[in-house]
Amino acid sequence: MQRIPEPELMDDHEQAQAYAAADFEAANASFVEQLEALYGGVALAGRVLDLGCGPADICIRLANRHPALDIHALDGSEAMLACARERLNREPALAGRIRLLHERLPVRMLPAMAYDLIISNSLLHHLHDPAVLWDTVRRFSHPGTRLLVMDLFRPDSPQVARETVERYSASEPQVLKTDFYNSLLAAFTPAEVSAQLATAGLAGLTVRTISDRHLLVSGQTG
Ligand SMILES: C[S@@+](CC[C@H](N)C(=O)[O-])C[C@H]1O[C@@H](n2cnc3c(N)ncnc32)[C@H](O)[C@@H]1O
Repeated sequence: MQRIPEPELMDDHEQAQAYAAADFEAANASFVEQLEALYGGVALAGRVLDLGCGPADICIRLANRHPALDIHALDGSEAMLACARERLNREPALAGRIRLLHERLPVRMLPAMAYDLIISNSLLHHLHDPAVLWDTVRRFSHPGTRLLVMDLFRPDSPQVARETVERYSASEPQVLKTDFYNSLLAAFTPAEVSAQLATAGLAGLTVRTISDRHLLVSGQTG
């Protein structure tokens, strides 16, 4: 099935608020688990860059679990960042540890030259040119930067996409079900992601599927 791109930014307020209110407990908890496994059970520390942070749920989970993380969270949507700000206001203990950046990829400058960990969940399928994600990873990493990128992968047919939406989102509002369906159609296959990494000079990273709809890119930059 051919990829059907969707709009990059989630900058509609209703869409951003519905997304921020949705239950991503399983996916976001799994992201944190995968990340902790990447570190082999050792506490995470250092400077983190979250690309396409949305409402910052993953950043908040990480900051609460790992006090030695200093997180820069970037998103191109002001509506999403408003949701993130609202959540952070409810976490006074994290004050100053998560810095929100209103930036749209590709970016030339960020507050740090290089990050110890770069993460991204559900951004890749939004990008019209996926190379901007991998170029950002290269530009803002140092040798040994750890990377974890999770995203949907594209199913074989619209029918499989519809079944997936019903299996996992039957009780969600229609706006979210439509987003999910469009995201599945916009997502890349694992083979396409491997090809993107090879083109970007990041072939040392590993791509694998971790569920019937998610793929994971992980490893360390050379
Ligand atoms: C599906 S949401 C994922 C949010 C968050 N990572 C999570 O796991 O909940 C994708 C986010 O990427 C942002 N985004 C899409 N294209 C972008 C770009 N080119 N630069 C920066 N942010 C972008 C959207 O605005 C949206 O907030």
